[in-house]
Amino acid sequence: MNKNEILKEVQSYIRKTFLEEGTGHDYFHIERVVTNARKIIEKENADPFLVELAAWVHDIGDYKLHDGVDKSKELITTYLESLGLDESLINQVNEIVSQVSYSKGNKPTTIEAEIVQDADRLDAIGAVGIARCFAYGGSTGNILFNPEDNSKNASSIQHFYDKLFKLKDLMNTKTAKAIAEERHAYMKGFVQQFYKEVNF
Ligand code: NI
Repeated sequence: MNKNEILKEVQSYIRKTFLEEGTGHDYFHIERVVTNARKIIEKENADPFLVELAAWVHDIGDYKLHDGVDKSKELITTYLESLGLDESLINQVNEIVSQVSYSKGNKPTTIEAEIVQDADRLDAIGAVGIARCFAYGGSTGNILFNPEDNSKNASSIQHFYDKLFKLKDLMNTKTAKAIAEERHAYMKGFVQQFYKEVNF
């Protein structure tokens, strides 16, 4: 398979596997991350094949989908080996994916990892980010808002403060920073309006 054929094959595997995933990590999240990554890479000097491949598989082993256990390395390796990809490429993909996660707090060490991280984070903010925040909160049994408790994981609104409002300043690339500005402002306005409606 040439590079294009590999990406097509990976895309159709991810589509089959994630189409009906209900926590906000569904196929269309992953597709948006790939689209974001393509946009960001236009202004960067990075390997497009590596970026796209890592973006397609970045959520395969996410702990949120595997009872709190991160299975990224194991599942990505098994899957990419089944496509006959060579070990050094698989290692590069694993390295990128291991640096993408917010909860692990890793700083990317390559431009490819910076791009995939930005692409994933852009999908966590703005209107889509708001929708995903409540979808994920619902899937874990969180309530929307708790005026009496602002501790971590107490409600989906709290998640804006714990993570989503911080993402704008954590973007690596210029392109992602610019896109993040608008999405951040939209989220701020949303939370303001939410408080107004609940008289908080
Ligand atoms: Ni993701």
